[in-house]
Amino acid sequence: STHVLWGGRFTGGLDPLMHAFNQSFRYDQRMHAADIRGSIAYAKALALIGILNKEEEEKLVNGLRAVGREWETGTFKPADDEDIHTANERRLSELIGPLGGKLHTGRSRNDQVATDMRLWLLDEAASIETSLKALIRVMVERADNEQDILLPGYTHLQRGQPIRWSHLLLSHAFSFRSDLERLQQLIPRISVLPLGCGALGGNPFPVDREFLAKELGFKSLAENSLWGVGDRDFVVEFMMWASLSMTHMSRLAEDFILYSSAEFGFITLSDAYSTGSSMMPQKKNPDSLELLRGKSGRIFGNMAGFLMTLKGLPSTYNKDLQEDKEPLFDTVDNISACLQIAEGVIATLVVNADKMRQALTMDVLATDLANYLVEKGVPFRETHHISGRAVALAESRKCQINELTLSDLQTLCDKFTEDVHATVFDFEASVERRNAIGGPSRDKLKRQIAVLRNYLAQ
Ligand code: ARG
Repeated sequence: STHVLWGGRFTGGLDPLMHAFNQSFRYDQRMHAADIRGSIAYAKALALIGILNKEEEEKLVNGLRAVGREWETGTFKPADDEDIHTANERRLSELIGPLGGKLHTGRSRNDQVATDMRLWLLDEAASIETSLKALIRVMVERADNEQDILLPGYTHLQRGQPIRWSHLLLSHAFSFRSDLERLQQLIPRISVLPLGCGALGGNPFPVDREFLAKELGFKSLAENSLWGVGDRDFVVEFMMWASLSMTHMSRLAEDFILYSSAEFGFITLSDAYSTGSSMMPQKKNPDSLELLRGKSGRIFGNMAGFLMTLKGLPSTYNKDLQEDKEPLFDTVDNISACLQIAEGVIATLVVNADKMRQALTMDVLATDLANYLVEKGVPFRETHHISGRAVALAESRKCQINELTLSDLQTLCDKFTEDVHATVFDFEASVERRNAIGGPSRDKLKRQIAVLRNYLAQ
């Protein structure tokens, strides 16, 4: 029969289906290291108040370290345990005998599991932060190297104004920068220690929770035991963070899926991030980008689903809270993968500068034509109309606006002079004119790159 932590008051056994239904070991075993760390700190705290003598403390700590080593070396043998806490305590007692039974003094799996989850997530958040920084770095490097490349910027997916490819790339990098900021802001709210809250009502032994917090690296501790065991806001908040970050990922993916189609042809994805069709031999599909876009739905679903689990729960611990793990783990796994894939996709894609250039039709300089007249003192509202009439005239003649002659233009406004063609109809000059902070000029790209590099260096 299975070892459980709660057999005393029971006479009957658990229905086998119920046993499986209740069991979280299958997925919560991945918190094994956090569970051991929490237990080692707790053993030390018990020793500080004399519940364990020095020798017992040493035996317990060494026993826990031995269990931890079994996990690390892949030799830990599960025994149909209910959860990771049960498994580690069972193994500890197998190794050191009845002394293992002293570890749980004043502790409950309720404060234990909340502690494990927070410790585990803090570690994962640190590696997600590293991946996010790597992704931003790749975007910044490309943006720095490819400043000469121009393409149309779109609104409503209609060509709007010429911009630099680097400017577009950095727009996505700035979304990720704010995700990085938000992630860093979450950390203090994850880093709150529940250990020492007991099952719900606090710890009756004078354990030094400040010592525990320090030992485990928590920034603060739960000030209310009912809250400490029942709070899962940090799980929700992390998944909300991931949902928003994945919305940015999805937007980037959508841009690049469009741009990699033959109709645009602006970029070519590396073979390393594309797949083929089982039927159509010519196909090279942007599956990496489509999965980046698609995963956003699943991650949002994890967040929404768990929020529904929390809604209507009474105070403190309820077994419903065990449902926090699978969506959180799935979210962490998927967003981690997405960040790494996105980094690879962006590092390896090929930019087709000629195709981008060919998409720059002269009509994207209509705003510049209007602004030319602004420089000559005509109010913008009028110049907008005049430039619009020039576009219409060119359209009726089936030519581009730069092919209208000076006298054509002068029939629309007498302020046009000889310099108009050379001044207005130059894509590079148009981009350089947009030199206010935030614009696509070389100087302001330099500024964007510096802002991001400084942020990454912090
Ligand atoms: N496996 C449980 C969970 O993940 C651990 C806490 C169990 N607590 C309890 N009172 N049954 O939430």
